[in-house]
Amino acid sequence: MKALKGAFFHMLDDPAVIDTNEAYVYEPNGLILIEDGHIKAAGAYAELKPTLPAKTKVTNHTGSLIIPGFVDTHIHFPQLDMIASFGEQLLDWLDRYTFPEEAKFADPAHAEECAEFFLNELLRNGTTSALVYGTVHKQSADALFKAAYARNMRIIAGKALMDRNVPESVRDTAESGDRESRELIKDWHGKGRLGYAVTPRFAPACSDEQLRRASQILEDHPDVLMHTHLSENMSEIAWVDELYPDAKGYLDVYAKFGLLTNRSVFAHCIHLKSDEFQQMAEADAAISYCPTSNLFLGSGLFNLKEAEKYGVKVGMGTDVGAGTSFSLLQTMNEAYKVCHLKGHKLDPFKSFYLATLGGARALNIGDRIGNFEAGKEADMIVLDLASTPLVERRLKHCKSIDETLFILSMLGDDRTVGHTYIAGECLYSKAKG
Ligand code: GUN
Ligand code: ZN
Repeated sequence: MKALKGAFFHMLDDPAVIDTNEAYVYEPNGLILIEDGHIKAAGAYAELKPTLPAKTKVTNHTGSLIIPGFVDTHIHFPQLDMIASFGEQLLDWLDRYTFPEEAKFADPAHAEECAEFFLNELLRNGTTSALVYGTVHKQSADALFKAAYARNMRIIAGKALMDRNVPESVRDTAESGDRESRELIKDWHGKGRLGYAVTPRFAPACSDEQLRRASQILEDHPDVLMHTHLSENMSEIAWVDELYPDAKGYLDVYAKFGLLTNRSVFAHCIHLKSDEFQQMAEADAAISYCPTSNLFLGSGLFNLKEAEKYGVKVGMGTDVGAGTSFSLLQTMNEAYKVCHLKGHKLDPFKSFYLATLGGARALNIGDRIGNFEAGKEADMIVLDLASTPLVERRLKHCKSIDETLFILSMLGDDRTVGHTYIAGECLYSKAKG
């Protein structure tokens, strides 16, 4: 048994669905008890302190704000070395920068080095769980799983399936993609806290046979996820229309191949039509909202209100390397601005919900992580309320938790994350680097 003392905040539900005051907990003088890597209790210090067994180690985070670790619902670990590449929209960006970079992951040593850096960068940014794309190479996923297992992180990942319309250096076949995905599931799915996602890159890069086999893998493994891209860019959508003239639209292509399920996570979904949102809701599929990427690639503005209207599960994603930051705080910043341009106000409770519990629910792991309910895994971060002179100064004028959260989401970044705990163990401290 151990405990953290300090102010804490977490979400219990979606504030767009239930009354906001019922949707969150803020405890200014709190205590979080951890046993065997799980939350035992989280409540007021004065109430919980007397229940602590003698000799329980209490770490004092007074003056900071403890929240659940961030959940990144869409990120590419092999795109580290080409993040911030100039000037192109999606399809040219893939050809010019992305595929040449991903070809380097044929070398397992390169994959291993990148996996280590990548996971450390997640921890530095307070991201404790993520749904991650590998490259087409099996060894990219092996490297990531191995490094995540060593850190005991709840990471879901997959090797990308891509057997057409891409350079040979990053192409598999329907047969090899199927076989290697199954091998990876056998080796890693359910090991420690790891999970597998069948990962067709996007419909234009996958043959019919490859998509059919992807859906068969899902059927054979009832708790494996499906992770892909959808309706991100107008030229991409026109290309899908050309490739599939008989489909009703882009989503329908995935649906026809059995890939629209309650275990499916679709990144972007910027240009979905109302009936497609409805179809997503009926299937209980999830969307990853990736505002820094959508702005960077000039893809468009996601309509969060429409997703809310139809009750589609949504989480936030950084989509590094099209996204420009690993920080979910920075992602909330851009999300707010995108919503503003779409004519509505993204309140900070909703924003923190999307980056924690909402993301966990989008990945179907909301019963294990995402908040401090008793029994959940103790993935937590400690936010530094004086990370820069400006943040410290601005927060002095702040009177409520929603204002504090909003300011952190506008001005915060990796510097805001003081400590990152994985299953109760502190794996990162800013002071130590
Ligand atoms: N669509 C297909 N591949 C990718 C990718 O790597 N990044 C983004 N943003 N969209 C994609
Ligand atoms: Zn992506």
